[in-house]
Amino acid sequence: MLSIHESLEPTVRGVELPPYGDPQLSALYWDARHARVTGAAFFDWYLDYTRLRGIFLQELPAPSESGPEILDVGFGTSEIPSSLFHDGYHFVTAIDVSAESVRLAQQRRSSEQKSLQFLQMNATRMSFPDECFHAVFDKATLDTLLCSHQGAAEAYLSEVFRVLQPGGIFLLISHSGPAERLPYLLRLNSAQEAIRPWKVQVAQLPKSDGGDLDPHEGEDDRANSCFWLFLCTKPPVNSESF
Ligand SMILES: C[S@@+](CC[C@H](N)C(=O)[O-])C[C@H]1O[C@@H](n2cnc3c(N)ncnc32)[C@H](O)[C@@H]1O
Repeated sequence: MLSIHESLEPTVRGVELPPYGDPQLSALYWDARHARVTGAAFFDWYLDYTRLRGIFLQELPAPSESGPEILDVGFGTSEIPSSLFHDGYHFVTAIDVSAESVRLAQQRRSSEQKSLQFLQMNATRMSFPDECFHAVFDKATLDTLLCSHQGAAEAYLSEVFRVLQPGGIFLLISHSGPAERLPYLLRLNSAQEAIRPWKVQVAQLPKSDGGDLDPHEGEDDRANSCFWLFLCTKPPVNSESF
């Protein structure tokens, strides 16, 4: 398994790589990056499925013969789509800007996993119809886009909101907390009203598997020793009591 620290070299065989969050240019960077994960191996940024399984099982609608429809955005070489499949979530669509990531995932997919879809697609311009997913999952992809420029993040979040069904959920795992991420998630207009009026619940997830966060740590230490979960619920059709 690769470590995050060895992964962000600026060149591959002497070729200068583009900024890795740039939606126009980053496919080349990510193709080279993902090509280092070979065979049946997976690499998950931040936290793997074993750390997130309880959250998925609690927050996703129970699996049925026709759903829920789940979108994993910027899946890279993550094991999460196939792990969800093993837990009964058979309608997972995973997209990534990198053709290499899609090629590797299709190569790994077993014959019974045909309903797992891996598509090359730019998250800032998705080709899905409105309101077609019950849940959208993002681990480290918004963080990636924000390394480039804010316009990409805004285009992406507006696409997430568009493709979610009313009452659907956006599960975001980020290295940054509410002060840095809520302004993008909600995007306030000049009257201080949220342009994306979803209900956002926030939780801290310890980086190591050692259990709960240490209550004796200072706020800064605690923030650095955790990732953040943002659970964003799109208003349902009848949203009076939302
Ligand atoms: C930091 S990696 C996270 C991968 C995976 N979600 C995980 O947790 O292991 C960011 C991923 O976003 C993808 N990506 C970057 N820009 C993208 C875009 N505009 N549209 C779709 N995917 C993008 C990259 O190819 C990469 O796989």
